[in-house]
Amino acid sequence: MSKSAILKSSIAKKWWMSLTGLFLCLFLVGHLLGNLQLVFIDGIDGKRAFNEYAYFMTHNPLIKVMSYITYLSILFHAIDGIMLTIQNKKARPINYVYNKPGENSSLPSRYMAVLGSAILLFIVIHMANFWGKMHFSTMPLHKETIYIPLTQNPEGEEAYYTTNGTLLAESSAVIAGETKLNIKDFTAEIQQQDPSYIKKGDNPQFAEGYKDLHSLTMAFFGHDKTKEGFPLNPMAPLAVVMYVLAMCVLGFHLWHGFASAFQTLGVNHAKYTPLIKSFGKAFSVLVPLAFALIPIMIFLSK
Ligand code: HEM
Repeated sequence: MSKSAILKSSIAKKWWMSLTGLFLCLFLVGHLLGNLQLVFIDGIDGKRAFNEYAYFMTHNPLIKVMSYITYLSILFHAIDGIMLTIQNKKARPINYVYNKPGENSSLPSRYMAVLGSAILLFIVIHMANFWGKMHFSTMPLHKETIYIPLTQNPEGEEAYYTTNGTLLAESSAVIAGETKLNIKDFTAEIQQQDPSYIKKGDNPQFAEGYKDLHSLTMAFFGHDKTKEGFPLNPMAPLAVVMYVLAMCVLGFHLWHGFASAFQTLGVNHAKYTPLIKSFGKAFSVLVPLAFALIPIMIFLSK
């Protein structure tokens, strides 16, 4: 392969890394706004808002396409990053004798591959904890306690919150498949009272329930009010520490990556480049900080 081809391909890789990296920054903003509902909307409103949001994110066709682009971007970004690092190492196998890296580059810029690998590891663990459970396991559905006047149950009754905005008492519901909620067949009970009763049909479908991602997340980060089918995570303090550390790593990665992506894409402007650099630094501090506050606030909320 000619030298220019290698150069070309490494430039192409850097372009792809920049484009996918900036797209992932947009993903981070959207993901952060969605997750802030966990801490800024209280009680049953927060639970409804978050589970409705998660339902929308997994059912809207446009968002589904965006999700696939996100997964592909993570893969491309990581694979290109690894290949570029290997390529750079091969191109310069012997360390310079006179090597003062501190004078030529910032600390995060020299550790981009290490920081990126740590973030990839975090994403794999994180997706197994939430996304994997949401998509590949049967999860408890969103339930609320309702109080029916004039009944003998002052404790209230559990009811499923459904996608058409209604509540269906748990005692009257049958779950079909993962989220379908059908009305229980009361034939046997009614026939006991009225033997002439003829069954009209099998469990008519009532509505669809929401997977209770809100309770899963709250329990994962040790919020002790949530006992809705999710055992409280005994490792919650460790999970919170791990998330906070991962967000520090993300911050360092973005500190260099954000402005560097614009530079690779050829954005070089006397007026705008300093602005992009300042925006990148603010972004790399504020976004990871806000993400880190979410598990901390959930853990501390009682
Ligand atoms: C610390 C706060 C965070 C919380 C509470 C959180 C929570 C969640 C939850 C509940 C899901 C599953 C629901 C869904 O698919 O939207 C999810 C998915 C995901 N998270 Fe996070 N997340 C956090 C931070 C992050 C960070 C910092 C990254 C990236 C570095 C990230 C990357 C992802 C990805 C790639 C998915 C799959 C998204 C999709 O399917 O479109 N998350 N997260």
